[in-house]
Amino acid sequence: MATNIAEIPVRKICCIGAGYVGGPTCSVLALNCPDIQVTVVDRNELRINQWNSEKLPIYEPGLEEIVKQCRGKNLFFSTDMAPALKEADLIFISVNTPTKTFGLGKGRAADLKFVESCARLIAEVCDRSKIVVEKSTVPVRSAASIVNVLKANTKPGVSYQVLSNPEFLAEGTAVNDLKNPDRVLIGGEESEEGKKAISALSWVYRHWVSADKIIEMNTWSSELSKLAANAFLAQRISSINAISAVCEATGADVSEVAKAIGLDSRLGPKFLQASVGWGGSCFQKDILNLVYISESLNLTSVAAYWQQVIDMNEYQKSRFGERIVQSMFNTITDKRIAILGFAFKKNTGDTRESPAIHVAKHLLEEGAFLHIYDPKVEKAQILLDLDQLDEESGISIHTDPYEAAKGTHALVICTEWDQFIVNTYDYQRMYDSMLKPAFVFDGRKILNHSALAKIGFHVETIGKRHGQSFQDHNWAGTNGI
Ligand SMILES: NC(=O)c1ccc[n+]([C@@H]2O[C@H](COP(=O)([O-])OP(=O)(O)OC[C@H]3O[C@@H](n4cnc5c(N)ncnc54)[C@H](O)[C@@H]3O)[C@@H](O)[C@H]2O)c1
Repeated sequence: MATNIAEIPVRKICCIGAGYVGGPTCSVLALNCPDIQVTVVDRNELRINQWNSEKLPIYEPGLEEIVKQCRGKNLFFSTDMAPALKEADLIFISVNTPTKTFGLGKGRAADLKFVESCARLIAEVCDRSKIVVEKSTVPVRSAASIVNVLKANTKPGVSYQVLSNPEFLAEGTAVNDLKNPDRVLIGGEESEEGKKAISALSWVYRHWVSADKIIEMNTWSSELSKLAANAFLAQRISSINAISAVCEATGADVSEVAKAIGLDSRLGPKFLQASVGWGGSCFQKDILNLVYISESLNLTSVAAYWQQVIDMNEYQKSRFGERIVQSMFNTITDKRIAILGFAFKKNTGDTRESPAIHVAKHLLEEGAFLHIYDPKVEKAQILLDLDQLDEESGISIHTDPYEAAKGTHALVICTEWDQFIVNTYDYQRMYDSMLKPAFVFDGRKILNHSALAKIGFHVETIGKRHGQSFQDHNWAGTNGI
């Protein structure tokens, strides 16, 4: 018998994609909704096995405890997609939407082949009406494509409502972000059926999110809001990084400038930390996607504006690598350099688009030997990111930071791990084991530079000139005062 959306109570949820979004999102959902059965499916058997094991495939503070509490009760991980899709009332599509690597839009447009294959599979296996929720980050109007694919392949008597519900979690704080979201966006059709589907998803979130934070809007606004939010966040970092270059050239200190800017209540203090550059799987691909959409709409000035946010990030990563070489007497050939931190940010093992990759490749090209340590990134992942098959080609991966530092000329901080700060690590011990002069390049501005200088390190950081003073720059000559 035909069912319509109004008759669908949400008792069973299936999420396609057991990645950085699908895994944590469904874990927090299962924790807060004991009355709902949640099954996360993925075609990657290894990933599913890891979700079902003691060692989860991703590291997120607080996640392991939640998975242990819910797994086997109302949270399941499986590769058997068809039965889970068939019995679900609501399906999240949470698969990856990478940048296209070929064809039209290559290097910029989002590749929606995984999203489309999910829609095809849903239509093929499901024999009753369901709510399909687009959680992956997608270009504006992608929901229309999902609707078209579903409609063209739907079994008789079955109907679907497609909602947009983008995810705003940040890796490293995913559990907290999911438990206490700033907002939950739900975009859907303005029809009766659309409104009912929105209410059903809203009811799921209402288990733990207050009503004022659940915002209903049209589908296209919801899709665009996600791209726009990421573009704004990355733009803020690129802006302060641009200022950091001016600081290094003039003697201003970017930390002081950031503090001054952040105290303006119209701007606020967040996302004003200058660094070696932003990374992660989302910012780059989502802004490229926005640039591509703008170009496709003939909005060339808009496209150029957002492209510059990416270009500034590339410039910042390259500048940092070049500064390391320049400071070490313009050559690092055959020098040993320790890289502390390889993840794109702290509290995650994710290295996608990590600035550490860019910096490490730059140093390898200049002939350095690298000794890399990260508390959470696996050795195989680091070698893969650096296009190396083994450790013989100038790279050693360490499980102990002191071993990584031993016998090197320089320490390069690429990730802002809390354990790297001076009170946690014994930098005197590292200094004693290093070649002299011993350098520190703090790409995250997390260390106590005066304490390191006291030990004897030569310290270089972002947005501040080394040993700057009023005497070291001829102002009259440069700006005509
Ligand atoms: N990572 C983040 O911080 C973050 C935050 C917000 C939004 N997003 C968005 O969420 C989406 C997912 O991101 P992610 O980081 O979780 O990606 P991910 O690569 O970690 O996980 C995606 C998973 O989907 C699986 N998959 C792909 N196609 C499939 C198919 N047809 N059937 C079954 N499984 C399939 C893959 O095997 C993979 O395990 C992306 O669109 C991303 O832009 C990511």
